[in-house]
Amino acid sequence: MVFVSIKNAMEQGSGEVSLHGWVYRERGSSAVRFIVLRDSSQTIQCVVKKAAVSQAVWDQAQQTPIETSVEVHGVIHLDARAPTGFEVEVSDINVIGYADTFPITKDQSPEFLLDKRHLWLRSQKLSAVMKIRSTVFGAIDEYFRSHGFYEIQSPVFTPNACEGGATLFEVKYFEDKVYLTQSWQLYAEAMIASLEQIYCISPCFRSERSKTSRHLAEFWMAEMEVAWADLSNVTMHAQELVAYIVKMVLETNNHELDVLKRDKEVLRRIKTPFFTMTYTQVLDHLKNKGHIVEWGKDLRTIEEDELMKDFDKPVIVTHYPKEIMAFYKPADPEDPRTALCFDMLAPEGYGEIIGGSQRETDINKLVDGLKNQGENVENYEWYLDTRRFGNVPHAGFGMGVERVIAWVCGLDNIKDAIPFPRTMLRKSP
Ligand code: 4AD
Ligand code: MG
Repeated sequence: MVFVSIKNAMEQGSGEVSLHGWVYRERGSSAVRFIVLRDSSQTIQCVVKKAAVSQAVWDQAQQTPIETSVEVHGVIHLDARAPTGFEVEVSDINVIGYADTFPITKDQSPEFLLDKRHLWLRSQKLSAVMKIRSTVFGAIDEYFRSHGFYEIQSPVFTPNACEGGATLFEVKYFEDKVYLTQSWQLYAEAMIASLEQIYCISPCFRSERSKTSRHLAEFWMAEMEVAWADLSNVTMHAQELVAYIVKMVLETNNHELDVLKRDKEVLRRIKTPFFTMTYTQVLDHLKNKGHIVEWGKDLRTIEEDELMKDFDKPVIVTHYPKEIMAFYKPADPEDPRTALCFDMLAPEGYGEIIGGSQRETDINKLVDGLKNQGENVENYEWYLDTRRFGNVPHAGFGMGVERVIAWVCGLDNIKDAIPFPRTMLRKSP
């Protein structure tokens, strides 16, 4: 018996097919039973007519509550009344895994659905998101590999903070302690001296005490680092990468975007070049709209959202105040109050999707920066070696993959962009 996917069966359009999947919907009478079958590709209506099958087959067909796994054999044909345009007239059905009463019914609370995440992942919505997530990860690989980048892997256990000590997760490490990585960046800066252009897609961990729709405690970051590069080199890649991801999702996931009711016109506009402005220009822009931000203060979510109301594509904001930036972001020689760094903000209220910068090459400034952030410089000796042995100008960025997925899918909450979300208030299932 050769099983085909529902999608392939519908492409075949007629004749005998063998399918396997899960019962998505079921109803019936004493003479006929309708089972909507679901697999990873599609759903299809299957009809079992008592008069047309043996008693044994008819009995099996009664044992199929929602989420039972079954094998179905029959003849497929077009049927305009069926939910997906085709129907299978069943000649045989085998129950593979019987399902207890499925706990997820209509109109459950978001918290209940998170408790039952392992089952809710079977929903049409989350299946669509996870397929788009797969496209996004693939597109990141394709983009970087086609531009001559090597993929590398970075440790998850690390003795160092990259983005400040406040959000580190501490882990017992034999008789010692280490942290879960916040970013691969420091290791990337070591590896460019051998590979020059590298990228890495890795989980990152931050114990941010924020319960927003944009923060996860465990999220995936796609990071890149380039030797012999400056800020403009990496903002160029950031734009091209994001545009490529959106293009690939539009090409690959038309059906999934429909399932999610995502406005595709909005996504079709995401073409390079994106608009670039400095932090200072953003403050002027906000001031004209009646929002005063004191120069030197970081942009808060409300200010980012206010700015992005005026743009239908991502915006690159450069030159944030040096004072509030991580230790590795260098001052701009043209205006030392500002740093050679950027954030990319997504439209439609999805906030910061990328953060990046040129990297400080002056070892003394790095040491001062670390001290100012209260770090133990000794732990960074290995990193400082990158500046002692053939230092070169370099730059890189990190993209929050779930932030991008949430935006591309038009999700209300970043939690739905990852299969099993980890947040301040949720660590299971
Ligand atoms: O802006 P961040 O903190 O930059 C860095 O970590 C740099 N070391 C990256 C680099 O230059 N290699 O984080 C990068 C991106 C953010 O723009 C955001 O999209 C995402 O990571 N991010 C989060 N996503 C989900 N939940 C969180 N708690 C996140 N924190 C950051
Ligand atoms: Mg950032």
